[in-house]
Amino acid sequence: MTEPQRVLIFDTTLRDGEQSPGASMNLEGKLEMARALSELGVDILEAGFPIASNGDFEAVREIARRVEGPIIAGLARCHQLDIHRAWDALKEAPRARLHVFLATSAIHREYKLAMAKEEIVRRAVESVKMARELVDDVEFSPEDAARTEPDFLAEVVERAIEAGARTVNIPDTVGYAMPSEFAALIGYLNEHVSNIDQAVISVHCHNDLGLAVANSLAAVGAGARQVECTINGIGERAGNASLEELVMAIKTRADFHGVDTGIDTTKLVPTSRLLCQTTGLAVQRNKAIVGQNAFAHEAGIHQHGVIQNSACYEIMTPADVGLEANALVLGKHSGRHALRKRLAELDYDPSDTELEEIFVSFKSLADTKKEVLDDDLHELMTGASKRVVEIWELVDMHLSSGTTSAATATICLKDRAGRIVKEAACGDGPVEAIFRALGRASGAELSLTDYQIKGLSAGLGGRGEVSVEIEDLGQRHRGRAVGNDMMRASADAFLNVINRVVSAREEQTELVDVYGQ
Ligand code: KIV
Ligand code: ZN
Repeated sequence: MTEPQRVLIFDTTLRDGEQSPGASMNLEGKLEMARALSELGVDILEAGFPIASNGDFEAVREIARRVEGPIIAGLARCHQLDIHRAWDALKEAPRARLHVFLATSAIHREYKLAMAKEEIVRRAVESVKMARELVDDVEFSPEDAARTEPDFLAEVVERAIEAGARTVNIPDTVGYAMPSEFAALIGYLNEHVSNIDQAVISVHCHNDLGLAVANSLAAVGAGARQVECTINGIGERAGNASLEELVMAIKTRADFHGVDTGIDTTKLVPTSRLLCQTTGLAVQRNKAIVGQNAFAHEAGIHQHGVIQNSACYEIMTPADVGLEANALVLGKHSGRHALRKRLAELDYDPSDTELEEIFVSFKSLADTKKEVLDDDLHELMTGASKRVVEIWELVDMHLSSGTTSAATATICLKDRAGRIVKEAACGDGPVEAIFRALGRASGAELSLTDYQIKGLSAGLGGRGEVSVEIEDLGQRHRGRAVGNDMMRASADAFLNVINRVVSAREEQTELVDVYGQ
């Protein structure tokens, strides 16, 4: 059997990705991301567009100096100044690539560049030659290739290869192509560019119609051997092809594509999370591969199937992408199998009749909230009053906040023994100040994973519900409170969850004592 051919992964998270609104990163963030991308196993890492700003220049230079593993690429327009600036930033990399681009489509030629076809060819050739005087590894991109006349595109590509380009990248700059059409364009170039065997064909697809990954895969089917992509699919406008989707499609359907990549897929989720932290841009819950729901099951029928054999509803394993386990989310669609499984994990072993009774209460609770958490199950099993001990009680709270000063919260709490504790804290807003002051006063310094306010009635002074979620010792706890004053309700919800966490911690300690550890 012949070895599957390798598709090179050209990551442009730090260049095209960073160009997307809200995705700017500082130097430290870029270096950390670049190291993570290197560990992920990307073949080429496009570190930035050095002429764009001094910050970009410095980031490319530092990555070139300090990040080992991938080829480090820098982008340049077909201008002498751009090419030299990019090379200055790249030259200390053990393996560097100059990536030069020039638009070729009629609309760009007429309105953006005001250049005729011959001038485009001349400039592309001169620039590739200029780049080749600096480094052997040169990539040429005819920008907006997917909307360029195929015969003219073939001419530009052929001349760029003749001038020394080792990779020719075919961008669908505005995400306009359809998969079969884009595959046909790659086929056309393969047939009509006489020296195409002297270069790697790359593709660079944008997601304006949600087809970036489909177009890239179609191009691979037609012979492209490099794909340009970004973590979480970030990039100009609707983004670029998502690296994790491309790589997992190639891996999961190796039978179909017959190619592979050098990516360590178990690093996909950690790298995606690092990017979210670095940019502050979250991925949607249902995002393929790395979204919170990608390996979560709520429907009873699915949960039953997954409990018997996860392959019933999972085409990849969570471990493949770097997740510890799938999640059976308990909600109104869940069934008895999932409820029994989770109860067993929490050390409850109800009889069949008990389970039936609990299942009825579980369903009515699930009708009132999105997700039934472990705390709720404990309450169902033992009774709410037994479970959540009122460890701390709010005696008084004073808040001050303004547009020019930090918000401050002063909190007075009483514990079970009647002891009074007072604490104050500042925050970016009153909610943060309350949270911090309560953490200090109760001694339960916690990190918040979710905070939501929901209006329950219309108008000023209407009632609202605050719900907060905290993760402690691997368990999630949710606190809730309702009221007319949202700051007071926030304090009550925080205190509610603090009481739950402290009770859970005390219970853990009791267990340890009982088992003598
Ligand atoms: O989308 C595009 O055409 C680009 C090129 C610079 C490759 O990002
Ligand atoms: Zn792009």
